[in-house]
This record gives sequence, structure tokens and C-alpha cells, in this order.
Amino acid sequence: MKIYYKIDDFLDARSKLNSKKIILVPTMGSIHEGHISLINKAKLYADIVIVTIFINPIQFNSSIDYDSYPRSIEEDKKTLEKNGVDILFCPSTPEIYPEKFQTSVNVRLFSEVLEGKFRKGHMEGVATIVTKLFNLVRPDFAIFGEKDFQQLLLIKSFVQDLNIPVKIISGETIRDNEGLALSSRNEKLTNNEKTQAIQIIKSLNLGVEKIRSGEKESDKIIKKIRDYLEDFNLIQIEYISIRDVNNFEKVHQIDRDVIVLIAAFVGKTRLIDNLIYRKKNG
Ligand code: PAF
Repeated sequence: MKIYYKIDDFLDARSKLNSKKIILVPTMGSIHEGHISLINKAKLYADIVIVTIFINPIQFNSSIDYDSYPRSIEEDKKTLEKNGVDILFCPSTPEIYPEKFQTSVNVRLFSEVLEGKFRKGHMEGVATIVTKLFNLVRPDFAIFGEKDFQQLLLIKSFVQDLNIPVKIISGETIRDNEGLALSSRNEKLTNNEKTQAIQIIKSLNLGVEKIRSGEKESDKIIKKIRDYLEDFNLIQIEYISIRDVNNFEKVHQIDRDVIVLIAAFVGKTRLIDNLIYRKKNG
């Protein structure tokens, strides 16, 4: 695996790969099985897998959250190498955001709701860095996890709006044995918090079961999930929302494919998760 830290060195290497199909796997490091599953899926699409590790300061809405985000670059390099990644690009913050940097990419719908609303500037920060990575890497494909579903739709949306020639692939959420969606942030959970964090997916399953058994009113499903989670003292719900899985519009009557999304603090750690209900499966 080749590793590049400087944009110029990376671009030099990239210029020698023009005849190859390239897939990009953008990450913020702390590589876990969720990332490995994206890398393995990525290999099916392209000749060269490029992973980026960059903890993007402009997508954090608090400097405490940014400073405490898990970092394990040396461990990550070994894991990525072992898993057959061809190129790792891990630029520094000044490489990506030099002093005079002043551009941002804003996708209105996604910046205003849920993750965009509760984490001011987050969606814009993601859209800006991903656009920048697309311009630097010029991949044929890029892959993103479904756990960050709003991020996935945000990226699909600006790629279409701005005619960026990258095909977006999605990878399913990978969970541990108890159902907890894998996330770099899970490292920060204490044992007690972890026991409560697994209630999030249990509550989502409960909600989707209720839809399957005939309940079509979103408000009632959301109440059921909220009531369930309220029994767990370490969980502080930020939002529960039911949205159209394709256009992310809020759904009141469930008459189509929807996604149920939750953001909650478990202790001091903010987690997100979601579950899709597809009508054809009943
Ligand atoms: O999902 C992430 O890890 C980040 O939001 C991403 C896509 C790498 C952009 O910083």
C-alpha cells in the first residue's frame, strides 16, 4: 500500500493511473469492520481502491467533539494494508484547508433537517470535503455507508446537481453481535452505555414491526419508539423521524418505502442509526 500525505505527491501518483478504474473510500479513520466491509465491496467495482483518512474539522459543530474524535492512524495503516487497499491518502488539515480557503458546498434540503439542523454546519462540511476529495482523487466510483443515510443522500444529491462524474455506491450498515451499528464513536461507550446503546436498534425494529403489522401513522410509530427508549436513563433522544427513503421528505402516512432514523446521546456519545421499511416486503 502506498501512503501519501501531500496533495502534490498524491496527484503525481494519481496521474499514473489514468487507464485504471478507481474507487474512493473516504473515511475519518479509526478503521473498523464497517469500513472493511466498504473496502471489500469497493474491490468488486474497480482496479484500484483509494482510502482517504481525514478528520474533517469543518463537519464538527463543536471543537470538543473534534478534539475527542478517536484517532488511531498507525493502527489504521496496518489494517488497511492487511485488507488490500492500494493507496492511502491522509493529508493534514492545512493541506486541505489552507489559510485563505473560503468555499463551501451547501445542499439546502439536507442542511436544514435532522443532522443538518441538530449539527449546524455538519452537512455543509461533509459536502465540501467530499467535493474536494472527488476533485483530488477523480474516482470512477465512491462508496459510503448506509448508517449515515442522510450523508449518503446528500452526496447523491450534489453529485447529480453539479454533474460530478462519480458513481455513488452504498454499503449496508454493519452491526456487532448485539445489533449495535458499528461506528468509530462506539469506542467511547462505557459497558453500561453500550448495553443501553443496543436498545436503539431494538427500538427501530419495534417501530418497523409495528408498520408491518398495519400501523401507517408515522406519529404513532415515533411515539412507540420514544416510549420504548424513555425507559433507558442514559439515552437522550435528539430526533426520531420517518422519511421517504428516496427523496428524504417527511412522511406522515406510511404508503411507500420509508426510513426510520434516530439520533441520540448515550451518555456523552452521540449515535445515529436507521432502519428501512420496504413496502413490497410487507
Ligand atoms: O462518513 C464519514 O466518515 C465522513 O463524513 C466522510 C464521508 C469521510 C467525510 O468527512
